[in-house]
Amino acid sequence: MKRLIALAVIIGSAIIVSSWPSYGQRDPNARCLLECHGKPDFKREVAPGQFKSLYVDYEQFKASVHKEKLCVDCHTDVTVIPHQRRPEQIHCLQCHYQGNVVGAPVSERPEKYKESVHGKAFERGDPNAPDCKSCHTVHAVRPPTDPLSPVYRANIPKTCASCHVEIYTEYLEGVHGQALRNNVLESAVCSDCHREHDLFPPDDPRSSLHPQNVANTCARCHTDVKIMERRGVPVKQVEAFKKSFHGIAIEFGILRSANCVSCHEYHKILSSRDPRSPIHPLNLAQTCGQCHPNASSNVARGRFHIIPSDPDAGIVFWVYEFYRWLTIVMTAGFIFYIVLDLYGRWRHARRSSHG
Ligand code: HEC
Ligand code: HEC
Ligand code: HEC
Ligand code: HEC
Ligand code: HEC
Ligand code: HEC
Ligand code: HEC
Ligand code: HEC
Repeated sequence: MKRLIALAVIIGSAIIVSSWPSYGQRDPNARCLLECHGKPDFKREVAPGQFKSLYVDYEQFKASVHKEKLCVDCHTDVTVIPHQRRPEQIHCLQCHYQGNVVGAPVSERPEKYKESVHGKAFERGDPNAPDCKSCHTVHAVRPPTDPLSPVYRANIPKTCASCHVEIYTEYLEGVHGQALRNNVLESAVCSDCHREHDLFPPDDPRSSLHPQNVANTCARCHTDVKIMERRGVPVKQVEAFKKSFHGIAIEFGILRSANCVSCHEYHKILSSRDPRSPIHPLNLAQTCGQCHPNASSNVARGRFHIIPSDPDAGIVFWVYEFYRWLTIVMTAGFIFYIVLDLYGRWRHARRSSHG
């Protein structure tokens, strides 16, 4: 009889377990979800009349990068269910640091976030500062390659826009934003220029947009012949800039010299054919005039990014070539003259010693 009762209990509970909704029969997470965290209106009162949702969308979780994990793999202090106390606050960086042994990928160095402008603001208690979950979500984290991820290339500007909305609208009007809207994924998004985790204010030398680093940041794409040919954009500007007065001055630490964004703007970069662009021929006097107060409309008439040794440079190339050959011919002539002179002196010396 006892055995029969035991069997009935086992069968009974098996039936109950198998009738649990959606969570698979042996899903060890089921206990967290069934009674509590699987209910959309499950919440906690954080202040009188103020609630925080404790609901976890399990379908989203099961589609996430952490789908193989158990709730208790991360919330390790939950040992009995239901737990009596609020579990410890946990952090993504518990696993995502360089050299971790749990196999959490960290190629972009998420731990640098702590030193970043965002991390510092968060640490100060700025209620608007983003932490990991602001950009990645908590339980629905998807890899950057997944079009549904908030950090998928095409979605990054929108993700930043949840706080930087004015910059986002400016960005959308510029060439990079327009191209992204047309699904040109190789165009620049916020994090291509600013980076995502080690993001600093532009006056910080560690920033990818510090005046001395701007050219290299743009260069990542603008020296890529394949990308630029596909988009019909010339590629020699970076090289020309580095050889220009401005580029050399920046290299030597004269930061008031011009870098790419001094002339091109940054969020709303426009083609030189667009009359609103600071590099449209009609606006150049004003653009150069910011730093060269006497710049007239004659400055930089015609083409600007020129490498003199490049045949594409037209007249400048021929002038360059002319002076190059002039220098070579004159140097050769001079050397010839010296040799001739030395030979003359030698012969003269020999003759006088014989005589
Ligand atoms: C990959 C690790 C990970 C897994 C797996 C995970 N969580 Fe979380 N969970 C977190 C992190 C990180 C936070 C804290 C987010 C924050 O507020 O900064 C969190 C927060 C929570 C919170 C909110 C706590 C509060 O007081 O704000 C609840 C509720 C929760 N998790 C439930 C679950 C449940 C249920 C599961 C299983 C379905 C689960 N978690 C699986 C990482 C995880
Ligand atoms: C318990 C350790 C642990 C915690 C806590 C954790 N992760 Fe992970 N995370 C992993 C592991 C392991 C993987 C690899 C999963 C796989 O590939 O199967 C991963 C993968 C990822 C990926 C995919 C990376 C890629 O290149 O494909 C992202 C993004 C990510 N986690 C972000 C987060 C965020 C954001 C949090 C906090 C909300 C977090 N993780 C918390 C262990 C963790
Ligand atoms: C301001 C938004 C933002 C914040 C805050 C942020 N991330 Fe990211 N994260 C991104 C973006 C954007 C990418 C995608 C980069 C790319 O295109 O590959 C990314 C990629 C990742 C990846 C996958 C790339 C890799 O390193 O393998 C992981 C893991 C990750 N973040 C973890 C974190 C962790 C942990 C935190 C908190 C310490 C965090 N992130 C904070 C925006 C953010
Ligand atoms: C949850 C809101 C939030 C999100 C999302 C966010 N930011 Fe920020 N960001 C801030 C706050 C707040 C500050 C100001 C920090 C401070 O006090 O200096 C800031 C500062 C910055 C700064 C420095 C500004 C300065 O004056 O030097 C840059 C650059 C920046 N964010 C870029 C980004 C980019 C790029 C993204 C997306 C990958 C992003 N932010 C996503 C809230 C956010
Ligand atoms: C083509 C490169 C580029 C892209 C793309 C870009 N930025 Fe910027 N951003 C810059 C530069 C350069 C500066 C300022 C440099 C300086 O002040 O010297 C800047 C400045 C900022 C600042 C500081 C406040 C300000 O206006 O000076 C914030 C915040 C910011 N960007 C956020 C964003 C966000 C959000 C996006 C995406 C919607 C974005 N940026 C896209 C290059 C870029
Ligand atoms: C992630 C790659 C990437 C980065 C980084 C990037 N760009 Fe671009 N840029 C592009 C692509 C792609 C286009 C072509 C867009 C199109 O198809 O219209 C473009 C277009 C342009 C154009 C317009 C060219 C034309 O003929 O209309 C200018 C000017 C420009 N970028 C300047 C910059 C500057 C300055 C920076 C650095 C502050 C920068 N870009 C950073 C990819 C990038
Ligand atoms: C001193 C001002 C100045 C600086 C610095 C500068 N540019 Fe330019 N840029 C111009 C002018 C003017 C034009 C238009 C005339 C031309 O094409 O030569 C131009 C044209 C371009 C074009 C062709 C697209 C178009 O709209 O005609 C690209 C791409 C470009 N620049 C990228 C860059 C990059 C990348 C840097 C930094 C490495 C940079 N520029 C630095 C002034 C500048
Ligand atoms: C952000 C400020 C800034 C902008 C904008 C700027 N320049 Fe300059 N430029 C400088 C500085 C500073 C020097 C001096 C560098 C040095 O010490 O060698 C310089 C040097 C030059 C020189 C070398 C000869 C001289 O006067 O020393 C020429 C030519 C020049 N700029 C032309 C231009 C033209 C054309 C434009 C507009 C397309 C322009 N600059 C925009 C800051 C700027």
